[in-house]
Amino acid sequence: MKKVIIVGASSGIGRDLAIEMSKRGYELGLTARRLEMLQEVAKDCPSKTYVKTMDMEKHDEARILLGDLIEEMGGVDIIVYNAGIGESSGKWVKENQVHQVNAVGFAAIANYAFKYFKDNKIKGQIVGISSIAGVRGSRHVIGYSATKAFMSTYMAGQRHKSIAEKLGITVTDIRPGFVETPMTKGQKGMFWVQPADKAARQIADAIEAKKKVVYITRRWWLIALFTKLTPEYFWNRF
Ligand SMILES: NC(=O)c1ccc[n+]([C@@H]2O[C@H](COP(=O)([O-])OP(=O)(O)OC[C@H]3O[C@@H](n4cnc5c(N)ncnc54)[C@H](OP(=O)(O)O)[C@@H]3O)[C@@H](O)[C@H]2O)c1
Repeated sequence: MKKVIIVGASSGIGRDLAIEMSKRGYELGLTARRLEMLQEVAKDCPSKTYVKTMDMEKHDEARILLGDLIEEMGGVDIIVYNAGIGESSGKWVKENQVHQVNAVGFAAIANYAFKYFKDNKIKGQIVGISSIAGVRGSRHVIGYSATKAFMSTYMAGQRHKSIAEKLGITVTDIRPGFVETPMTKGQKGMFWVQPADKAARQIADAIEAKKKVVYITRRWWLIALFTKLTPEYFWNRF
């Protein structure tokens, strides 16, 4: 039975992905800060599930805890980094939290995962839940979109290294559009909003298909294309 760790599994996409992967027969390791919520998620998972509290603003401690969790589980095949926060006020203290969780936290876990798979000669998989927001910088969510671009570029680098060194480590960049979760509750101006369980099914499909880059839901590739191709003059008017 394959084993997967999901970092940031207490709510939203991470929660539904945990339940989906569990239904597909994966053994799970779930982490986040809110232990009670993790325990609730574990109750909804039919397969064997481990939970561990982990704060992704405490990067070094999180890496140690990840190692402990891997040991408790007797190894891992797939590590998903889903933890993330958003904010649009532009206030530094809040924006810096976004940087610490979404970007530095991701790098702390992805770096650990890559070394773990390489050292143990495991053809494992690293999965990062980035965002459509990472495709191009946006005045509405400056720090957030920058962290998501960081994730995508970091994963591209890891994929490059895996291929060049023939390590067989798969790196999957998941780029969701709008998904109905606590993060987006009450947010205005959204469109093509999808329920989290549908997003989770498509993410699980992409993981099993070992995709490199995937938009969730699928039609968001159109928005990605539009975002990339829109000339600066028009983009700056949004
Ligand atoms: N919803 C969307 O429309 C959308 C679109 C594109 C990308 N995304 C990305 O998808 C991911 C999941 O978002 P969501 O919408 O499902 O939001 P959510 O329901 O708010 O879930 C966020 C998850 O991240 C965890 N987290 C936050 N800060 C953390 C910290 N300091 N340490 C450890 N875990 C932390 C939360 O757990 P605790 O609070 O319990 O620690 C929770 O499990 C995020 O990376 C987000 O950027 C979402």
